Amino acid sequence: MSGLLLRDLAQVATPAGDGGPLRGRALREVAVHERAYLLIDDEGTIMSVGAMRDLPRIGSDVDDLDGSGLSAIPGLVDCHTHPAFGGDRVHEFALRAVGATYEELLAGGGGILSTMHATRAAGAEALRAIVARHRDAMLAHGTTTFEGKSGYGLDRDTELEQLEAVASAGGVPTWLGAHAVPPEFDDATAYVDFLLAEVLPEAAELAEAADVFVERGAFGVDDARRYLEACASAGLGLRLHGDQFTELGAIALAIELGASSVDHLEATGADGVAALASSSVVGVLLPASALFLGRSMPPARELVDAGAAIALATDFNPGSAFCESLPLVCSLACTQLGLSPEEALAACTVNAAWVLGRSGSIGRLVPGFDADLTLIDAPDWRHLAYHLGGQTVAAVVCKGEVAWRR
Ligand code: NIG
Ligand code: FE
Repeated sequence: MSGLLLRDLAQVATPAGDGGPLRGRALREVAVHERAYLLIDDEGTIMSVGAMRDLPRIGSDVDDLDGSGLSAIPGLVDCHTHPAFGGDRVHEFALRAVGATYEELLAGGGGILSTMHATRAAGAEALRAIVARHRDAMLAHGTTTFEGKSGYGLDRDTELEQLEAVASAGGVPTWLGAHAVPPEFDDATAYVDFLLAEVLPEAAELAEAADVFVERGAFGVDDARRYLEACASAGLGLRLHGDQFTELGAIALAIELGASSVDHLEATGADGVAALASSSVVGVLLPASALFLGRSMPPARELVDAGAAIALATDFNPGSAFCESLPLVCSLACTQLGLSPEEALAACTVNAAWVLGRSGSIGRLVPGFDADLTLIDAPDWRHLAYHLGGQTVAAVVCKGEVAWRR
């Protein structure tokens, strides 16, 4: 490939500082270059960023892209999605619209378990095509890196098929074997025994991290600890779904085990906020899920003000968040969570990259980082969050190549 020059950009905006995860004041610091260029080498790495007046002399082997009227931000990083599912849940969506609750549908054998049946029936090839289709939708909303979980197979073969489908679409696979207890097992303990004996050895080869749904009707803290400890011993990073409906101790468990994140937190109270703030665990906030289920929003402002590191993600899945758009999530962060556009940007770039173990190569627009960037169709990058559900993204560059444009 040849190099790429993005010239005459209205702005290049990137979280400032280095390292991660960012918290406190650092979460608000965004470096903005006005009337700027961004130069990418022929290996897809950022060479330099700066004002147009400082643009170095460029060789003829460099392609040129006119960025007039556009703002560049780091390619968005969606660190929490469930894209490997068969079927859909539009029927349940319609039932919820007139009063059924998510928990009632799950307890009645619907919810995650209805998606389990459709996912088991899909087959490996269809699952690969499904994840690729959802990846393309995320890309059109500016996401250049996505994590994707299993958790709808709940048997050995389908769990592995889901992880392979995520990897084959270029995603970061997370093994969510402990998502729900499938009907073949009497209880969570027996199911965790099965997962660890029969699925973990191969899941550990395919996935980068393990995840567990700590919730009433799903997994209690003791089974979650046993599952996560075995996954850590097999070399996997640790994530948890916690405090979505009930505080069962997921934050304390995440801290005890050194998890990289605990995700959801809609039900987190003051003690959980304080505990998370004094730990290195990132709180991943999923406001599209809270909105979609009509639940209260997570205590984002309290977390940030207490010093916690937070990330934002879509939670894209067929039941609780049928939403691929991180720009929409950023809008919700600013309108519902009390975050500033700067905090929202850091939360779905550098901090999300940290959750995925990639904060040394993606999530910032600085020399040496991968040239993954999203071009916002406005002369001020904050339109990322300002435009509620609009066509915010003009083009997306992945590793120096234009991967999507309107
Ligand atoms: O993160 N709450 C657990 N898991 C998913 C939802 C899965 C589903 O409803 O299919 C979530 O919201
Ligand atoms: Fe989730």
